[in-house]
Amino acid sequence: MHIGVLGSGLMGGKLGTILARAGHDVVFSYARSEQKLKKLAREAQRNARAGTPGEAARDADALLLAVHWSRVDDVLKQAGDVSGKVIVSCSLPMNADDTGLVIAHTSSGAEQLAKRVPQARIVSAFNTVPSEVLFGVFEARRKARRPSLVYCGDDAGSKKIAAQLIRDVGFEPVDAGPLRIARYTEPFALLVAQLAYEGDRGPELAYRFEPFGK
Ligand SMILES: NC(=O)c1ccc[n+]([C@@H]2O[C@H](COP(=O)([O-])OP(=O)(O)OC[C@H]3O[C@@H](n4cnc5c(N)ncnc54)[C@H](OP(=O)(O)O)[C@@H]3O)[C@@H](O)[C@H]2O)c1
Repeated sequence: MHIGVLGSGLMGGKLGTILARAGHDVVFSYARSEQKLKKLAREAQRNARAGTPGEAARDADALLLAVHWSRVDDVLKQAGDVSGKVIVSCSLPMNADDTGLVIAHTSSGAEQLAKRVPQARIVSAFNTVPSEVLFGVFEARRKARRPSLVYCGDDAGSKKIAAQLIRDVGFEPVDAGPLRIARYTEPFALLVAQLAYEGDRGPELAYRFEPFGK
């Protein structure tokens, strides 16, 4: 697939690198320095290049939105027309100092995003794990028991694409239902972050849902 990365920081940089190594064509975009984007593309080793958000969006089968909530409008403006595009968003609707959600309970960042770009097909994914665990999960992808990764969205086709990307990174995709379920997955992401950054097991933390019994 052609993947456009909108926001090439901790999440976008790592997910883009992994997806390039998994065989996808990746365009890294949106960082404060073009050098950083070029370095990411070089270090991904193959199938990757640096570009503008517009270039990342143009031929993308899927866009990975990985910017701070306060930058969503700006990066989408730069991306241009995203009608019909699959946008897999790992962005959480955090306040400026990342201490809390600015949207929760009666709506979610993912639903707000869908209102912001109604012609795009939004899937919320990858936001329930810390960036620190991503390379480890990718390296362990051939093991039988993969960690889970919840995702949600309203469009079956885009969810299929997201599930494939989730598998390619090394997780077992767990379909949590429609986009409004992001009201639950987004606060859950803060629980995982709490355990990762304040717990005693370190930030390389993933989770797994197991059917129990039978
Ligand atoms: N980090 C995690 O573990 C984690 C986990 C779950 C969800 N999330 C969510 O994922 C999203 C991305 O998080 P992140 O940790 O990857 O953030 P990050 O490391 O800060 O990356 C954000 C990217 O946006 C770029 N950017 C910021 N301001 C810009 C500007 N004015 N012009 C151009 N580029 C700009 C940054 O550029 P530079 O590279 O130059 O800084 C960076 O590449 C957030 O919504 C966060 O809540 C993060």
